[in-house]
Amino acid sequence: MDNDVGLVLLIATAALLVWAGISAWREKNLHVKWAGTGLAAVLAASLSLVAALAIAGLIKMHIRSAPVPELKIADTPEQIQRGRAIVDGFCSACHSPTAPLTGGLDVGEDFPIPIGSFVSSNLTPAGQLSHWSDGEIFRAIRNGIDADGRWLTIMSYTNAGRLSDADTEALIAYLRSQPAAGRETVDPPDHLNLLGIVMLGADMLPAGKPVFTGEITAPSKGRTRQFGEYILSYQDCRECHGKDLTGGVEGQLAPIGPDLNVVKAWKLAEFIATLRTGIDPGGHTMSTQMPWRPIGRMDDEELGAVYEYLTHLRGSQNTASD
Ligand code: HEC
Ligand code: HEC
Repeated sequence: MDNDVGLVLLIATAALLVWAGISAWREKNLHVKWAGTGLAAVLAASLSLVAALAIAGLIKMHIRSAPVPELKIADTPEQIQRGRAIVDGFCSACHSPTAPLTGGLDVGEDFPIPIGSFVSSNLTPAGQLSHWSDGEIFRAIRNGIDADGRWLTIMSYTNAGRLSDADTEALIAYLRSQPAAGRETVDPPDHLNLLGIVMLGADMLPAGKPVFTGEITAPSKGRTRQFGEYILSYQDCRECHGKDLTGGVEGQLAPIGPDLNVVKAWKLAEFIATLRTGIDPGGHTMSTQMPWRPIGRMDDEELGAVYEYLTHLRGSQNTASD
């Protein structure tokens, strides 16, 4: 692996610098002695620090674990329909860049810092999932760990793990019902480079959402604030629009989205039209950084629920009460 080679080089260079420092210390010329030893010591110390952070990063990369739940999916038509709706309104943003579920999008290219490549997997039977058990797919969606126990970095950054048990099972039923399509995607899908590993070791890169092994239930589907709150728990609106939805902050990994309190000034029909056409009531065309295409594929009831939730936010432009 290139990263292991990089790490060995770092440690070897640090050792070489220590040796150079010792040689300089033996120099008769006092200037050379002090300057050489000093420089070698500073460089060796910095490289050792970087190597230590890289080792910490490698440990963090391998530490994530969760049990595989015992599971057998019933595969009812209702499950398949619900699973398709969640894929259309959410997962397709990353997994269907060219054709449904065939993957191949490198999410790493959108990050502000080049930390590696993270290619979305082909989720049809042409990918890995046909060799996985239902429980292994459940664990991948809920906790961002693949069938071999490896960390699925981007999955662990999304909120897919907040989908209810029933919705996660519906997703599995839908994925299983699909025909093979597209090409096999790279396996493993993630390649964190040395910079990424060092940043992970230095806590500058998140290690993913915490593992959760309990049960998750959802309120029944309807145009209610409660169902809207549930949708926002698994959709990634907050990753971009900020944890209170009052706007993202500089330095976050995801693109910065604006304050969603603007929605309070819109009618329901305007909100739905914005997410279906990509043009807001002011005539502004949204950039593709806002995943309005998948989000706009949610049905009227779901978008209505999101609208109910957003128009009752306690935020800057407080027009709604209770
Ligand atoms: C923000 C982009 C993004 C979203 C949204 C997303 N995924 Fe992923 N998914 C990825 C990437 C990238 C990978 C490759 C591994 C990694 O980095 O997590 C992946 C890997 C997977 C895997 C592992 C497959 C394998 O062969 O290793 C499964 C299963 C999966 N995703 C299912 C889903 C489902 C179901 C949804 C919707 C509920 C979803 N994903 C939403 C980006 C995304
Ligand atoms: C990957 C980041 C990202 C995610 C996830 C995301 N947004 Fe956005 N959103 C943006 C960005 C960036 C803009 C600004 C686009 C522009 O104006 O060009 C935006 C704009 C919007 C707007 C239009 C605001 C205006 O004044 O025109 C609405 C409404 C909105 N987002 C709602 C949502 C909702 C609801 C969700 C979750 C279901 C969501 N967004 C998820 C990044 C995101």
